[in-house]
This record gives sequence, structure tokens and C-alpha cells, in this order.
Amino acid sequence: MNFNFHTNHRLLLISIFVGFLTLSLIIAVFPAKYVQDNNPPLRNKEFLSPEASQGLKVFVAEGCVACHTQQVRNIATDQVWGKRPSIPADFADNKRLGTWRSTPSLLGTERTGPDLTNVGSRQGEVWHYIHLYNPRAVVPESIMPSYPWLFKTKATAGPGDQVVNVPDGFKDKPEDVIVATQRAEHLVVYLNSLKQAEIPKISTPEFIEYDWMKKEDTPRPMSAVTESEVNQEEILLNSLGPKAYERQCQACHQANGEGIPGAFPPLKGSLIVLDKSPDQMINIILNGFDRPNEYGAMPALGPVLSNEQIAAIINFERNHWGNKAPKTTVAHVKEIRDKTATNQ
Ligand code: HEC
Ligand code: HEC
Repeated sequence: MNFNFHTNHRLLLISIFVGFLTLSLIIAVFPAKYVQDNNPPLRNKEFLSPEASQGLKVFVAEGCVACHTQQVRNIATDQVWGKRPSIPADFADNKRLGTWRSTPSLLGTERTGPDLTNVGSRQGEVWHYIHLYNPRAVVPESIMPSYPWLFKTKATAGPGDQVVNVPDGFKDKPEDVIVATQRAEHLVVYLNSLKQAEIPKISTPEFIEYDWMKKEDTPRPMSAVTESEVNQEEILLNSLGPKAYERQCQACHQANGEGIPGAFPPLKGSLIVLDKSPDQMINIILNGFDRPNEYGAMPALGPVLSNEQIAAIINFERNHWGNKAPKTTVAHVKEIRDKTATNQ
């Protein structure tokens, strides 16, 4: 046997091939198999519908991953993006996009915009359409690009058209009718399908809190409190309210509380907000709201908001933009949540 690589070309080729194969197995194939075997798809996770799968392709084609991640890290700063940190099993049912296209990796590395892991529990269809047509129409300070090519401008809407109530200032002419293309419809179905699946408590990883974060949202020291504010809970809620509103409600109802005509109702001067009893308002936040009227549906936010956050938001909205109505308490929100437990 000739062991000289300089003269035995066959041996050279076989050695390289065997080396390559061994390394591939150790570095890629075995670890992948190990991960796959130990992380079966989650039982509670809904599989993508055919429309949502088409929407995923639009998401990939439009390059949304450049600015949006889909992974909730286990650090406390990520708590706003999901109920729990993401785990490998969350990604177990990802499929190839086609014979010649690989499985898309949508975890992302860049978070110019928010994480989208759980966006299906935060926003609704109407909001997504307006936002994709022109993000500035719902979030005035947004830097996200507009996607007008996902829409058509028509003189009148045809049967079956998904009309988008874009505010007048954002259309070329006020009489233009903006209609979603099928690609936009698929994309919105996909975005709405992005919801974190429930997993058993014992296998839920915890968020890691940093010391400096624990200070956030803490009430002012009692020494700085005026006599009329002696109630600790009220102080806590007062400091939580504006921030919680900005995070959870402002995208639709706007910073000035005036909503967007034809899409989201105003909270400023709203009879429901000003009602002496806060019960209907608590119910709307917990379980969503869909009246047969010009507005779309409001998603149920009970699953993503704590009783403290809800009480804080209500007290803020009932005493802001000129609104004036009695405050509510955390205990009262809890009472209504227990009574109407449909989404928990
Ligand atoms: C240049 C970066 C950029 C790109 C590209 C981009 N976005 Fe965004 N996106 C943002 C920013 C910034 C925000 C936050 C401000 C806002 O809501 O408009 C945002 C917000 C969002 C939100 C709201 C998230 C929430 O928590 O309420 C959704 C949904 C969204 N984008 C979807 C998309 C989709 C779908 C695409 C691709 C068609 C896309 N984005 C492309 C930057 C981007
Ligand atoms: C994804 C958009 C969206 C978000 C986010 C949202 N809402 Fe709404 N909200 C709506 C829509 C749409 C309606 C109208 C529903 C209807 O009339 O069918 C509505 C209606 C309401 C009403 C009834 C107002 C009236 O006078 O008719 C209240 C109160 C309300 N929302 C409070 C809140 C609060 C508080 C939050 C934050 C915790 C919030 N909403 C977050 C879309 C949203």
C-alpha cells in the first residue's frame, strides 16, 4: 500500500472525504438530530394555515426580518415581547419554503422594530393593514418603511374587496379607496397567527431580572408624597398608567386619545370611558370588543396585561385628555376578571 499523498491521489481524495464527513457529522448532523429529538413541536401550538404560510413567504420576500426578531430572550428587557422566554421547541415545526428554498431563519439579529413573537395577541387586522400601507398613519413617529405595493388604489370598492380605512392625509386624494392585495391579506393572516403557545409551568424558563430594573416603576418614596396621595396603590398605579397606555393602547387609540376615524374610536370623551362604573371598560380590555359598527374589532388584552396594568391604564384614561371619572382598584379588576374568565 502506498501511503504517499504526493503519488497516491485516490488515498488523498478518500482521506479528505472521510475527514469532511466525520466533521460534518460531529459539528452539524448529530447536534441537529439531538436538538430535534429533544424538542418536539409544542402541543398547544397552532400550525400555519395555508394562507398564513403564503403570508410567511411575503414576510420573507419583503425582508421584514431585517428589522424584526422573533425570539423572546430570557432577559427582563424582553418581558414586554412575550409571556415567557422562547424555547427551542417554539421553532420545531418550521418547514422549508419549497423544494429549492431552505427553512427561513426568522429569529433575526436586528431589532429596529419590536419583536413579533407574540404580535398576534397585541394588534388586530385593521391596525395591520393601515400600518403596512403607511406606518405613520397609526404611529406618527414610526421609521418603518411603507409597503404601498401590497395595496391597490381604486375609485370604488368591488365585492369581496378588503377596504383599508386609511386616514385622508395619507392618501393621494381623499376620495381614493385603498384595497388590500391578496399578498397583504396573507401577510396579515400570518402576523395574526404569531402567538406564543402555552407550555406547562414547570418547563417555563424564567426571565432574569437585573437589579437596576427592579427600581423601574417603583413608587416615589413616601416622604415625597403629598397628603392627598397617602394610598400606596394609587401612587403605584399613577406611575404605571402613562407608560402602560403608551405600550398597550396608544398604537390604536393614539397619544391624543382621539383614535383614527373609521378604524379606532376616541377614548377622549368616550361615554364608555366616562361611565361612572368602570365595569364595561374592564371587560373590553380583558375580553376584546366587536360591535357591528364602522370600527374593526379590538383584541382581547386580558392574556397580556396584569390586573395592576389594567387598573393603571383605566385610571389614566379616565383622568386624561380632559376626561374626568372615578378611579378603580386592582381588586375590582381582579373581581371582573374572575367573573368573565373566558380568555384565561
Ligand atoms: C427599517 C426597519 C423596518 C422594516 C424593514 C420593517 N419594520 Fe416593522 N417596524 C419597524 C419599527 C421601527 C416599528 C415600530 C414603530 C411602528 O409601530 O411603526 C415597527 C413596527 C411593526 C409592527 C408593530 C409591532 C408591535 O409590537 O405592535 C409590525 C406588526 C411590523 N412592524 C411588521 C412589519 C412587517 C410585516 C414588515 C415587512 C413587510 C416590517 N415590519 C418591516 C421597523 C421596520
Ligand atoms: C389593535 C388595536 C387596539 C388596541 C391595541 C386597543 N384597542 Fe381599544 N378599541 C379598538 C377598536 C377597533 C375598538 C372599537 C371596537 C368596536 O367598536 O367594535 C376599541 C374600543 C375601545 C373602547 C370603547 C370606546 C368607545 O367609546 O366605544 C375602549 C374603552 C378601549 N377600546 C380601550 C382600550 C384600552 C384601555 C386599550 C389598551 C389596554 C386598548 N383599547 C387597546 C382597538 C384597539
